[in-house]
Formats: sequence, C-alpha cells, structure tokens
Amino acid sequence: MEDNFITIVEVGPRDGFQSIKEWIPTKTKLMIIKALYEAGFTNMEVGAFVSPKAIAQMRDASTIVQELKEYPTTVLVPNLYGAKAAFEAGAKAITYVVSVSKSHNMANVRRTPQESLEALKEIKQAYPSLHVKLALATSFGCPFEGEIPIKAVANMVRFGQELNVDEICLADTIGIANPIQVQKTLKALMPQIDRPLGLHLHDTRGMGLANAFAAINEGVSMIESAVGGIGGCPFAPGAAGNIASEDLVNMLHSMGFKTSIDLDKLLKVSELIKKHVSPTLFSRMANLPNSTCKGVSCGK
Ligand code: COA
Ligand code: ZN
Repeated sequence: MEDNFITIVEVGPRDGFQSIKEWIPTKTKLMIIKALYEAGFTNMEVGAFVSPKAIAQMRDASTIVQELKEYPTTVLVPNLYGAKAAFEAGAKAITYVVSVSKSHNMANVRRTPQESLEALKEIKQAYPSLHVKLALATSFGCPFEGEIPIKAVANMVRFGQELNVDEICLADTIGIANPIQVQKTLKALMPQIDRPLGLHLHDTRGMGLANAFAAINEGVSMIESAVGGIGGCPFAPGAAGNIASEDLVNMLHSMGFKTSIDLDKLLKVSELIKKHVSPTLFSRMANLPNSTCKGVSCGK
C-alpha cells in the first residue's frame, strides 16, 4: 500500500441507517450498498445483528449479508447471540462494540464493559475464523460520564489485543473530540497498538474532518465515515451524524492522498440517500449547487 493511501471505511448502511426511524426497505438498502461498493469502498459496515427491540431498522441484517455474499461485508454485533446470528448468515467480519465508559455501555448494550469483553472472549473461542474489529465507543468522551481517561482506553486496547482481535477502532461516538486530543490520545496509544487501527468519527461539533486530519498526521491510515454525513447512536444523547464520506474523500484527494473511492460516483450515492432515505444531508459536498467535484482534484 502506498504511504499516502487512506482506507475509508463506509459505515452509512449501519451507523447511518440505524439512526433513521422510518423503515428503509431491504431492497433500497441493498441498492444503496451496492452503489457504495461500485463507488470503490472495499470495507463497509452493512448492518448490525442487534436486538430489533433496540434498533428495529437493523432487523434485516441476515438478508442483507446473504444478498451480499460476493462483497467484503462487515456487521456490527453487541454480544455472543449477535455473533452467532452473523456467522450463521455467512458474515466473515464483525465489528464488536464495547464502550470505554460503563454508563454508555449499560445504555447501549445493557451490560458492563467487563461483561462485554468476557463475551468477546467467548466469541473468539466459538468463531475463531471471524475477523474481529474491536470498536471502542466513547473513546474520546461519554454523554453520561464526560471525559474519558486515556488510561481507560489503553486498558481496553490491551484486553482486546490479548484476545487477539484483528483490528482496533477508536470511536468518537458523540463527536466531542478535538484535534489536539486526537493527537495526544494517538501519541499515547499508538506505541502500544500492534495491529490495524482506525478512527470512527462523528461531526456533531464540526470537528470531524479536523480530527481525521490530526489522526492521519499521527500515522493513522483508516478512517470511518458515512455517506451524506448520516448517523448517530440512538443510545447516546446528543449524538449526531458521522463525518461525511464525500467530504472526507474530497479533503483527502485535494491534499494529494489516495483512496479507492471515485468521488463522482460517491456523490451519486448521496443523491440516492437524499431521494430514498433522508432529504436533508449535512454533508458539504452533497450540498454543492450541482453536486459535482468540478474545480477540485478528484483523482483517486
Ligand atoms: N440480536 C437479536 N436479538 C437479540 C440479540 C441480538 N444480538 N441479543 C439478544 N437478543 C434477544 C434475546 O434472544 C432475547 O429475546 P427474547 O426476549 O425473545 O427471549 C432478548 O433479545 C433479550 O435478551 P438479552 O440478552 O436480555 O438482551 P438485552 O435485552 O439485555 O439487550 C442487547 C442487550 C445487546 C441485545 C441490546 O441492548 C442491543 O441490541 N443493543 C444494541 C444497541 C445498538 O445497536 N447500538 C448502536 C450501535 S453501537
Ligand atoms: Zn458512530
């Protein structure tokens, strides 16, 4: 991989769709997901195996995974039950979510972080072939507890690495991180992290792209974003959309970084999102007058 290549992980079909109350038909989801793959994503969260009582929008995850057998899909799971269901549907890669803060983990998955990590151990034992990304929610701040000490994040990372997860992802669940905090956190944690590391960013306070740039400057080469800037955890008060994939791609390409994404094609997917899912998008690029990337570098 070239030094200036950044992998963008698209989480719109999971983080984005989960925040939308009105049912999005499975065939619409599949049409959008396929268009996203067509735009060049190689890594995408396409759904979540969570309780339909917690998030009804994700209840078709099995069908989605089965229909996308030919694609490199990842699905979010919160417990052993979810991992089993994902595995049986044919999923090969999971995002296992645990919050660093106890209160958010209780609100989100109704158990302590310790209990969640114990369940991860069972998942690793039961399904050793599943590729596991450990997503550490509230790594930069919690809606209930406020500041999160870097040491607490470091402990979770250590536990995850002891369990031999395949990837670590630090999530700014409520979009509260600032670029200096991102820099400090990564300087403290990166010497300890010996496997692929990504950052999952939200733009609640307008700092998302600055945080992505701060992370890239520290050597992170994997960033999670959502088409259109949709997204948000329903169990984190005040959480808003992810950073928009098209804004991130535009920023990176215009600075000379490479990604696998074709910005023109991605902007066409934003149009699909506007038409079928959410008429108002927070993404800047999707709201340019004629939604083209004319005038800026959109080379891959
Ligand atoms: N998927 C679907 N159903 C599940 C499930 C899963 N991953 N895990 C448990 N269930 C079912 C159980 O079978 C049980 O069903 P029943 O009532 O018909 O017997 C019911 O849910 C309760 O099981 P329990 O283990 O007590 O779960 P809970 O009520 O404590 O809820 C979670 C725990 C993790 C399932 C739930 O909080 C959840 O799905 N959270 C996800 C939140 C989320 O997606 N947040 C955004 C992404 S970070
Ligand atoms: Zn998120």
